[in-house]
Amino acid sequence: MNEYDSARLAAVLELHGLIPAIIEKADVILVNTCSVRAKAEENAIARIKGLKRFKIENEKLKIGILGCMAKNRGESLFKDLPFIDFILAPDEYQKLPEILHPTPYFPLPAFQEFAKLTNNHSAFIAIQSGCNMRCSYCIVPYVRGREQYRESGSVLQEIEEAVAKGVSEFTLLGQTVNGYRFKGLSFAGLLRQVADTKGVERIRFMSPHPKHYTGELMEILLSEPKIAPHVHLPVQSGSNSVLKKMRRQYTRENYLSIVEALRFSNPLYGITTDIICGYPGETEEEFEETLSLLQEAQFDSAFMFAYSPREGTPAASEKEFLNEEQKKARLQKTIDLQNSITLKRAKLMIGQSEKILLEKPSRKNPSEWVGKTGNFKKVVIDIGAIPHCSPGMYIDCVIEGVKGHTLRGKLSA
Ligand code: 5AD
Ligand code: SF4
Repeated sequence: MNEYDSARLAAVLELHGLIPAIIEKADVILVNTCSVRAKAEENAIARIKGLKRFKIENEKLKIGILGCMAKNRGESLFKDLPFIDFILAPDEYQKLPEILHPTPYFPLPAFQEFAKLTNNHSAFIAIQSGCNMRCSYCIVPYVRGREQYRESGSVLQEIEEAVAKGVSEFTLLGQTVNGYRFKGLSFAGLLRQVADTKGVERIRFMSPHPKHYTGELMEILLSEPKIAPHVHLPVQSGSNSVLKKMRRQYTRENYLSIVEALRFSNPLYGITTDIICGYPGETEEEFEETLSLLQEAQFDSAFMFAYSPREGTPAASEKEFLNEEQKKARLQKTIDLQNSITLKRAKLMIGQSEKILLEKPSRKNPSEWVGKTGNFKKVVIDIGAIPHCSPGMYIDCVIEGVKGHTLRGKLSA
């Protein structure tokens, strides 16, 4: 979501005459921040402190803090970071051009520089903002507000415009994206319209909530070939008692039934997830249930976190029985198990024919390119025989092996 916001802000600023620059030469530095875990905020603050030196070198430099931390910490940020110029929360971005404008020192856009920085084959499209869920540990509803759904006509228009610029892969975004509804149109209905849009080749969405897996949605997911066979479906815990305390509104069994349906249709269906280890009061048995869920679900990969108390959330006022070390130990156990499953899932791909969307040349070897399979696995391919590769091209390849967690592919004959 933040990447999307950053891209949109960049587009707006370009309309106002700003151009992307390397950090040493920038007249404006905007830091888009995240508040989801304490670590995210700590990293952002450390990063912002590191920007102070650019102010010494460039007097006209303006530094602004954007994103969820701007909302969460507000004016208090000026105390820790007195050299910053302004703070703008996500619901205030429309003020940004006004803050920076008029700015006589902005030169006209240099198209060449801009082209190098843009990645044109794949686009994020936000269809929902905010979140109406109240997961007990989560700060997002407080910093992003109530759910708002974007008008479907405007979604489709943005997609059509992007197609005209050569984009073929679209990722629909929202905190609980499959809860989308607009004037009687469901998320499944919107997916149908996107799939029917000329030039759209691959559709992804992020992040759905298990609660909103309707029969109608399942049907389109399993029948529409343009919808990529991958889903990032956060589960958080494998224990029903913890899920209940987290107010997740589904059970382990509900969750696993979705996994089963997707994998029944396609055993290689990519399923990735988020896990929180060491939720307040999580017992050893409850933690073991998360490990057993990982075994059962066989996730292709997972983002795993130690629980981080966020002030103002209900979970933050619950007593924590685990110290940081114990939470870290559970996290490490989870990571170790998932790493072995991730590798196993990657190896299942060997011998498969796959359509790869090329992203960029590999850094180490320019005759190799990096791309993604439909089920969202990274593949490195030797493109030796193709004279002109470009981001956004689809090529057919056969998966030959696995190196680390990355697949190696060979062009199909
Ligand atoms: N502590 C740890 N992880 C969290 N997440 C959200 N809030 C917290 C928290 N307080 C994780 C969840 C979510 C992901 C974006 O971040 O797993 O899905
Ligand atoms: Fe946070 Fe839950 Fe909303 Fe996800 S669904 S953003 S975890 S409150």
